[in-house]
Amino acid sequence: MKKSFLKCTDFSYAEAETIFARAAELKANRAIGHERPLKGQTWAMLFHKSSTRTRISFEAGIYELGGHPMILDPKSLQLGRGETLEDTAKVMSRYIHGIIIRTYEQQLLNDFAEAGDIPVINALTNQLHPCQIYADVFTLTEQWSGRAGDLSALKGRKLAFVGDCASNMAHSWILAAAIFGIELRLTGPDAYRPAAFVDNLLAEAGLSANHSFISDPVKAAEGVDVVYTDVWVSMGDEEERDQRLRDFAPWQVNAELMAKAKEGACFMHCLPAHEGEEVSAEVLRSPASIVYDQAENRLHMQKSIMCQLGQA
Ligand code: CP
Ligand code: NVA
Repeated sequence: MKKSFLKCTDFSYAEAETIFARAAELKANRAIGHERPLKGQTWAMLFHKSSTRTRISFEAGIYELGGHPMILDPKSLQLGRGETLEDTAKVMSRYIHGIIIRTYEQQLLNDFAEAGDIPVINALTNQLHPCQIYADVFTLTEQWSGRAGDLSALKGRKLAFVGDCASNMAHSWILAAAIFGIELRLTGPDAYRPAAFVDNLLAEAGLSANHSFISDPVKAAEGVDVVYTDVWVSMGDEEERDQRLRDFAPWQVNAELMAKAKEGACFMHCLPAHEGEEVSAEVLRSPASIVYDQAENRLHMQKSIMCQLGQA
């Protein structure tokens, strides 16, 4: 089984240091003929959910690294007609060098990685979104250090995650906070607290939790360096839309909440955003907002992750 990136804890701290440093180099030297480490390789992308950033940045990134990006249509694969995941993974491993999957259940990715013999990258599941988090953490190093990718700049910083604390983004932040030494405050309705599986992942990785749950958004935002939010209705939750909009209304990130954060604090969102729901247009469009840097850094970070896995 080849090394995969299914969750934030799949890379050691030392590996993360290498990946973050390489992402900084790739960002600085995007256009000028860097090595083509995926030359001759085919990397496939299988998406069971919608995507703009992830889908496009991976395709561009594979091309820029010299590889061939192969977009798979889930409906036209035999997998959709009942062929087993195990056979699909074993057969694909004979043809291609890596696969990027966005799907509903994390278990599908875990099973694919186990059965196949190529790196699998998690492009978002209901449970986790590790590529987004790595890009976000990289974005914070750019904010806080003269050296992009410098993980030491993160230690002791405070981040408030506001909204759906049972979401893939909140779960991923819990892991990242423990790995990178960021103090994480989660705030949202009681019914949307993080799932227990994240505690198991922390324990498996030998990491201590570095987060707390604070119901009151104002208390959670007090003095933080970053306020982060995500949609209230994630992909797959559409049937609960009306209920969720009611439940999350007190947790909107607006100018009043941002005013509780430290002076000069950043606003972050993985996007797509719903202005007027989880974030006011004023905050999303304010100078504090670094959402487009986050989006851009998906490209550089994912290229670095593929370099790491492609050479393993
Ligand atoms: N943030 C993110 O993953 O965006 P997409 O759904 O557009 O890929
Ligand atoms: N929580 C969101 C993230 C989108 C990038 C979702 O899963 O839809």
